[in-house]
Amino acid sequence: MEHVVNRYFRRKKAAMTVLMVTSEAIPFAKSGGLGDAVPALARALKKRGIDVGIVMPRYYSTDKNTLFKYPNAMGVPMGDTERWCAVYRTELPSSRIPVWMLDREDLFGRQGLYGPDGSHSWADNSLRFAFLSAAAFQLSRFLGRIPDILHLHDWQSAPVAWLLKHFERARGFEHTASVLTIHNLGYQGVFPPSEAAIFPQEALNAGFADLLRGADMNFLAAGINCADAINTVSPSYAKEILLPEYSEGLGAELNAKTDRLRGILNGMDYADWNPARDKALRPLNYDWYWLRGKAKLKARLQREAGLPLREDVPLFGMVTRLTGQKGIDLLTDIHSPALKEFREGRAQLAILGSGERRYEEALEGISKEIPENCRARIGFSGPYSRLVEAGSDFFIMPSRYEPCGLNQMYSLRYGTLPIVRRTGGLADTVRSLDTSPQSGNGFVFNKPDSRELGDTLSRAVSFYKNTKTLQKVRKRAMRLRFDWNASSEQYEALYRQAMEE
Ligand code: ADP
Ligand code: GLC
Repeated sequence: MEHVVNRYFRRKKAAMTVLMVTSEAIPFAKSGGLGDAVPALARALKKRGIDVGIVMPRYYSTDKNTLFKYPNAMGVPMGDTERWCAVYRTELPSSRIPVWMLDREDLFGRQGLYGPDGSHSWADNSLRFAFLSAAAFQLSRFLGRIPDILHLHDWQSAPVAWLLKHFERARGFEHTASVLTIHNLGYQGVFPPSEAAIFPQEALNAGFADLLRGADMNFLAAGINCADAINTVSPSYAKEILLPEYSEGLGAELNAKTDRLRGILNGMDYADWNPARDKALRPLNYDWYWLRGKAKLKARLQREAGLPLREDVPLFGMVTRLTGQKGIDLLTDIHSPALKEFREGRAQLAILGSGERRYEEALEGISKEIPENCRARIGFSGPYSRLVEAGSDFFIMPSRYEPCGLNQMYSLRYGTLPIVRRTGGLADTVRSLDTSPQSGNGFVFNKPDSRELGDTLSRAVSFYKNTKTLQKVRKRAMRLRFDWNASSEQYEALYRQAMEE
């Protein structure tokens, strides 16, 4: 009996606590893969028994009435003052994962996460995201929940690592470690050093040099300089960023941290991205053993895109942020060899994208020049992005660099063979049918050059004619899994390593 009682009262081993600090998380805010990756990782960590929560801004698009409001406001020390915010709480859908949202109308009550459009940034971004970073500590105190790990994502929360090292560790966070995930080195949060006064003076006195890269204040560099562990979102990208052509000017900082730098491949959320259940595809849902719906979705996509209904030619799809990273320029010159198959009527192209105005205009241009075979829709649309994934035969990602890339994983799951440049996570997930016909799942080219892309598209056009092989490879692609289970185990190991630092 005594034995039983003891067992009953034995305290459960305390779970590791993690607070994710992020600027994006679906279903609340998303501009790209970051918004997908953070909550999916949180769910996988929770399954491993880790006590995980998320803090993010409450943007304009999230209705306050759907959230629980804490009765007290929270003051965050910034510069020589305190800035106050309201704190709201909700949960990731169908989970017990808390999401705390910081509400400050003047900082986050506007449309556009980082700027009014894809070509401009908000002038007060340093203040907005320094606030998010500083608030992570204050929120932990406010909740009486000091985490073991502060997990930061990209430049928007990278200053947390700097604040921890130079300010907060001595103020109650002695046992907390910071982990910085670099989803994209191309965005660093670079500001004039005169804006550094947004941070507490004591932190600046102790660690001003760590906040700088050259003459600029650089949020991501500060994170790299100070985090206890760092990772990128694929093994190949972790190696690439140590090379001058991929390091975006942070080679010295990164090379000084190679002992702390890992590459952990993102997973994708197979519950959310499932062609058999995807609401956007109803009633034509399909799976690898029942592909009929996919052919009908091709017709739906052609209709919605404004393309002629043709089964005899392959339909190529793209869904992308329109930035230099994505290699859009390889396809936007009307005379580009990459557009040959479309110009000559042997293939169709449906694009969904938004971002920098110059690329939006260029894509509108090719839709006008080759309207019978190329149609670009400018905008951000979840349902249409799913239709492009499902209705296309091939999915093009000619990225100049790609830290991980989720779209090629989604397209594999939807039986839409990816055509990618061999870089970063694309190199880690797509196997070339040219070199591995028995195990390949897509087409891979090496140089970011429109001729190579054009030749690869031509190979795909020929491949399309062999219906039997195409179906076989589609089924193979749809059964592949890049899930979060394995990756979250690696994150747990990274957390433990950071705690030992
Ligand atoms: P990145 O994070 O660099 O944009 P990823 O491939 O990791 O690249 O993730 C992109 C995510 O953003 C995918 O979920 C994709 O569907 C989505 N996305 C990108 N552009 C659009 C758009 N215009 N409309 C809808 N979804 C988009
Ligand atoms: C970034 C990268 C992309 C990655 C995503 C999620 O936006 O550009 O490659 O998949 O973050 O980690």
